[in-house]
Amino acid sequence: MVFSIGAALGKTLSAGPAGKAARRLSDFVDLEGSSLKKMLADLAPQARGQLLDVGCGQKPYEHIFRPYVDAYIGVEFGDTFQRTSSSTIGGKPDFVYDGKTLPFESKSFDTILSIQVLEHTPAPGPLVVEMSRVMKDDGLMILSAPFSFRLHEEPDDFYRYSPHALRHLCGQADLEVIQMEARGGLFSVIGHKLNSYLALNVAHIDVVAQAIGKLGHEQSSDRGVRWWTLPWVGPSMVTIAAGARALDRMLPDPTETLGFALVARRR
Ligand SMILES: C[S@@+](CC[C@H](N)C(=O)[O-])C[C@H]1O[C@@H](n2cnc3c(N)ncnc32)[C@H](O)[C@@H]1O
Repeated sequence: MVFSIGAALGKTLSAGPAGKAARRLSDFVDLEGSSLKKMLADLAPQARGQLLDVGCGQKPYEHIFRPYVDAYIGVEFGDTFQRTSSSTIGGKPDFVYDGKTLPFESKSFDTILSIQVLEHTPAPGPLVVEMSRVMKDDGLMILSAPFSFRLHEEPDDFYRYSPHALRHLCGQADLEVIQMEARGGLFSVIGHKLNSYLALNVAHIDVVAQAIGKLGHEQSSDRGVRWWTLPWVGPSMVTIAAGARALDRMLPDPTETLGFALVARRR
């Protein structure tokens, strides 16, 4: 019963005009998701032509890249995808494959995009080589991976990435990194961890979050929301997010970040 109320509320919020306000508020407190979207919005104008999103999940960034590309195609590894809530909610991949050989001819795509995927494969090197294979010689690759993020999508959660590891993986795939960007600083890392704890461990709002398209990387949740915690959890999360954003602007620290994103081209 509690689950249905949470899911129904999430669905109502995602549909109606109240949904926009709820979405904006949830983006504000979600320091990880909002920093990722901002970074991709900054990088998107470099994308062009045929874009392949490898490990696309619900394709949450399609609207950001659409204005710059002719086609946006998403591909997923069937085994891991069917374990995430994205497989039951939201957009669907155009192709599902075996996680090893992308089902495309070599040099088919102008832009390769892969967001928060490299931590989910036990063999990230071969995946980057495979993505490089299907990229045209004058193509561009946009990759991002977490540096500090809680365990998620278990048991398919293997690694976290420094910028040096990402450069190394690109080098092995005959790619040259032309841009490397850090997302958030120390205070976003702390703020994100505190807000995740409040949202998931205290308020149990995962079912509402998934219904409005968040936490697609987690397994579908069916536990009840602890509604009585929301009067203090909600304001606490907003205060933490506002403080983290302000402190990161005043005291930036590129050694403690949520993650890194890069743009690479063929060497
Ligand atoms: C954290 S989710 C990210 C989904 C989406 N890119 C996003 O940012 O919302 C990681 C995704 O990587 C996919 N994945 C894992 N291994 C993969 C592989 N070898 N090839 C393609 N996708 C893979 C999983 O199925 C999952 O949907």
